[in-house]
Amino acid sequence: MVKAAPAEVRPGALRRHGMSNDETYIRRALELAERATAGTNPNPLVGAVIVRDGEIVGEGYHGGPGRPHAEIEAILDAGERASGATLYVNLEPCCHYGRTPPCTEAIIDAGISRVVFSMYDPFGEVRGKGAGALRSRGIDVTVGPCAYDALELNLPYVHRIVSGSPFIVLKLAATLDGRITMDGRKHITGLESRRRVHVLRSRLEAIAVGKGTIDLDDPVLDRRLLDPGLPPPVRMIFDSGLSFPHDHAWLTQGDPVIIYCGEGASPERRELLSGAGADVVTLPGKDGLVNLHDWVEDVGRRGFSSVLVEGGVAIATSMMLGGIIDRLVLFVAPVVAGAGGESWYRDPGLPVWLEDGELAPTRVEVIEGDVMVVYDRFHVRSYLGAVTEEGELVHRSR
Ligand SMILES: NC(=O)c1ccc[n+]([C@@H]2O[C@H](COP(=O)([O-])OP(=O)(O)OC[C@H]3O[C@@H](n4cnc5c(N)ncnc54)[C@H](OP(=O)(O)O)[C@@H]3O)[C@@H](O)[C@H]2O)c1
Repeated sequence: MVKAAPAEVRPGALRRHGMSNDETYIRRALELAERATAGTNPNPLVGAVIVRDGEIVGEGYHGGPGRPHAEIEAILDAGERASGATLYVNLEPCCHYGRTPPCTEAIIDAGISRVVFSMYDPFGEVRGKGAGALRSRGIDVTVGPCAYDALELNLPYVHRIVSGSPFIVLKLAATLDGRITMDGRKHITGLESRRRVHVLRSRLEAIAVGKGTIDLDDPVLDRRLLDPGLPPPVRMIFDSGLSFPHDHAWLTQGDPVIIYCGEGASPERRELLSGAGADVVTLPGKDGLVNLHDWVEDVGRRGFSSVLVEGGVAIATSMMLGGIIDRLVLFVAPVVAGAGGESWYRDPGLPVWLEDGELAPTRVEVIEGDVMVVYDRFHVRSYLGAVTEEGELVHRSR
């Protein structure tokens, strides 16, 4: 049955009154799933809990490609106590040989008698087959608790599988009067909002930024507020003139950097930056600027499942006009910048798709004095409004 809730609901708003045991343990699995601070791309975030006689006897989460799946970690943690127990996991257990053997076999071998998972895996080789493999061996399977929250957690994964395209998120930190720059102040929002941005940086696979922001701010674009030891994300730079310094710390440290430029860029600069370790990508476009639809295609071709775009003004405006953003995450601080700041939208006299209802708010949260508003495009709202109580994703396209 498709949930009757509208697409514009808050995560968690679909919960029934009170929390069943199943929901309690699935919530714990969701918490564990989020522990993969460096992300698990292109794999989903998955956590698992094993419960026997009302006691948690095993826990685990997936750490990324090639690492054991959450179910396996939890089974290893539980040892013999897994026999006769219930396994809780936020995504359908896999039943195919990928980089690791099928979880369904390990679950059967461990003697688990019941499996509860939040949502079916939209990946064709698993969808419904994981549950079928378990049921065929007499394991009791329940699907659906916290399906909405499980879907929200793995939206980039779901979007890539359903659409074949990477999930593009634009993050902006703005003043109450809509400025994303402010004289004399490096950070507009508070520490907790910035920590949330670092969480986004860990969930999404790459960070994209305009060359103007690098010139003005020289941002670090890492995940240090989660853990200073985390590896740097892939940084993508829009730089039509290829003026990014070839001796920039990202290059001298050997961090992965992809620079996007238009066809007219200087061959000498291209050679210099490539020699310094950057991946320089030329794409078609007007006036030396890359066409953003071609950029999204290139990002997908390179196997990225998601990108967090962190501005600045020119990039935010082109992305808004190009209509290529799947989600906008806007942090608004309780401060007014006035003439000392610039709006995130460098008005070229054209309306953007916010006006025609294409981008609508799905979530509002107060974060220590700041407000975070999440806006989703129609197709993303349609996934969120289409997850059923039985954990099925009934996606409608417009
Ligand atoms: N509050 C926030 O959330 C936030 C986030 C980021 C930045 N900011 C602020 O934004 C300001 C910077 O904005 P900005 O407009 O100057 O710079 P920007 O948007 O970061 O970068 C603009 C530059 O990117 C290149 N570019 C833009 N579109 C391109 C395309 N389609 N293809 C290839 N290259 C492209 C162009 O380089 P060329 O010049 O070589 O043509 C352009 O000059 C800073 O003050 C920064 O603090 C705020």
